[in-house]
Amino acid sequence: MPLVTADNLVKKYDELTAVDGVSFTIDEGQIFGFLGPNGAGKSTTISMLSTYLPPSSGDAVIDGLSVTHQAEKVRNIIGVVPQDIALYPTLTALQNLKFYGKMYDMGGENLDKRCQELLELVELWDRRDSRVEQFSGGMKRRINMAAGLLHHPRFLLLDEPTVGVDPQSREHIFETIFKIRDSGTTILYTSHYMEEVETLCDYIAIMDKGKMVASGTLHELLSVLGEGGVIELKIAPPGCHAGLEEAIAGQNGVTSINHQDGKLLISSKNSAHSLPPVLKVLEDTGCTVDHLEIYTPNLEKLFIHLTGKELRE
Ligand SMILES: Nc1ncnc2c1ncn2[C@@H]1O[C@H](COP(=O)(O)OP(=O)(O)O)[C@@H](O)[C@H]1O
Ligand SMILES: [Mg+2]
Repeated sequence: MPLVTADNLVKKYDELTAVDGVSFTIDEGQIFGFLGPNGAGKSTTISMLSTYLPPSSGDAVIDGLSVTHQAEKVRNIIGVVPQDIALYPTLTALQNLKFYGKMYDMGGENLDKRCQELLELVELWDRRDSRVEQFSGGMKRRINMAAGLLHHPRFLLLDEPTVGVDPQSREHIFETIFKIRDSGTTILYTSHYMEEVETLCDYIAIMDKGKMVASGTLHELLSVLGEGGVIELKIAPPGCHAGLEEAIAGQNGVTSINHQDGKLLISSKNSAHSLPPVLKVLEDTGCTVDHLEIYTPNLEKLFIHLTGKELRE
């Protein structure tokens, strides 16, 4: 049973369709990743799921509750960590958390205990009495995450929680996210960094221009490019030999051939084994290799394959 089901979510801003018919399901206990460049529609989708923005059409159901018809109940079971840090710089870490707790109608010993638990979780209990303005970017992000967890949400939405933090803090944030998942919280994670999504997420949806262009486990997604790797070739002169592709396709281990920007992408079961026969074919036909690259598939390459552009601008 999925905890979250989004059905054809659309958000229009005048002319612009920021989210254009996005559907997905998130299973309980999963870390579900949205990967996409700036402007892909990740934050807008999060805003609709977290009831901050009404969809132009479509709906999402979280633990049986509709975000369009039961917004208030949805808000009780979700935690949102927005892309922009929302903390009071002149208040201490603990004071910030208590402030948020009061917004959730928490108080007394219950709130004190929860604040301690969460500050320990993000490893900032020792710094509880320091003002947030003295914190690094990564520490602020961790307090922001703790604030989103105060009311024990079943579903936590994290919008680019590592932007502007150093690599060490990023590791720290990852560890915290795994701990949150292990405690039974389902997580939606958005990022424009493919390594993060590769490391963290059980299931990945790739977004571009408001649409989901692919989704699956990392393994499923990368297998589109060929499990054993890709040989990328630029041949001169282009189209130098008519039967070239058929000849390459017939070589041992080659599983598919695609074109991209004048390059041939040869997927194979094992690119190291397929390379010598492929080069032999080229030699026999008299074509010259202008560019040769071998890589194991990754999400960056998949994104280029799907959209024709780079994930990072
Ligand atoms: N309040 C708004 N009014 C008009 N356009 C918006 C608004 N918010 C976001 N957009 C546009 O919607 C698109 C998706 O934005 P966003 O969801 O923030 O993408 P992402 O989080 O993936 O970077 C972008 O083109 C952005 O400029
Ligand atoms: Mg965003």
